[in-house]
Amino acid sequence: MTDRLTIRRPDDWHVHLRDGAMLNAVARHTARRFGRAIVMPNLTPPVTTIAAATAYRARIMTAVGGNSGFTPLMTCYLTDDSDPAEIARGHAEGVFTACKLYPAHATTNSAHGVTDIDALTGVLETLQRIGMPLLIHGEVTDRSIDIFDREAVFVERTLAPLTRDYPALKIVLEHITTAEAAAFVAEAAHPIAATITPQHLLLNRNALFDGGLRPHAYCLPVVKREAHRLAVRRAATSGSERFFLGTDSAPHVVGAKESGCGCAGIFNAPFALETYLRAFDEDDALDRFEGFASEHGARFYGLPLNEGTVTLVRDAVVVPGVIGEGGTEVVPFLAGETLGWRVE
Ligand code: NCD
Ligand code: ZN
Repeated sequence: MTDRLTIRRPDDWHVHLRDGAMLNAVARHTARRFGRAIVMPNLTPPVTTIAAATAYRARIMTAVGGNSGFTPLMTCYLTDDSDPAEIARGHAEGVFTACKLYPAHATTNSAHGVTDIDALTGVLETLQRIGMPLLIHGEVTDRSIDIFDREAVFVERTLAPLTRDYPALKIVLEHITTAEAAAFVAEAAHPIAATITPQHLLLNRNALFDGGLRPHAYCLPVVKREAHRLAVRRAATSGSERFFLGTDSAPHVVGAKESGCGCAGIFNAPFALETYLRAFDEDDALDRFEGFASEHGARFYGLPLNEGTVTLVRDAVVVPGVIGEGGTEVVPFLAGETLGWRVE
């Protein structure tokens, strides 16, 4: 049995670092483990300009105490009015690494998102031409579609035509949750990849109703049936270069989760590596973890692999019930549970 695993320093290809007091509370959890992180732009207001992204990046660096080993990679939030020239300039200047497409009203702070992908032609042609990745929250927003089906319907109705219309557009389907999404990404003759979160490897939809309503298991896309969890797990541990680590760590203060209308989002940053490792260990895939965590994402984005390493050892670690203080109290993923791996 392997009791010790050393991997190249990993990256988090999907994280919500928030702003203000919450940013100051959570950013260091990501910075101490990951070399880089793709920072989601769904602030209020969203990050839509070079100036906003540059200022946000500076606030992140302040929050991590100038931790020079950590690089936040910024994203541009797409709206119906996004300007292709601003996006291309931001990319050329090294401010924007990618663009994020939220279908309007699909998730937290997506009200300014895109109402009609067909109206984004100028942006999509530009991304395809300059090789800038499009990151997609892949759910339809049609309220007549069952919430558990919204990702699979998106793959069929929106993603498949998108890949046909823009054959060279680099796409990351974010936080996949279904067998349909995993199969599409694995098999498409297209430059496409997907991020996978720890919660979608460990939870099925029973977790939402386990002895009562469980707001801390609620995120979007919502966790699915067991068969989907297993399909997503097989994708993550398959060794395929198309699947890589993206925590979707999305902190909300405890009162916003434990509420009559609890926010979507799971805060997993403090124990993300330990949590992923539970899944890879259970599936006898520890040898595939380094590719998933530290190599596949960088290669897809065309970035160098990180220098340095992280070592994990088999040991019991208890996840605290609450993390943070003074108004930033957040209940972490798997609060109160014991994990089997610890970062050395
Ligand atoms: C995210 C958030 O809170 O910003 N929530 C979530 O459930 N994942 C938004 C998102 O990534 O959909
Ligand atoms: Zn997210």
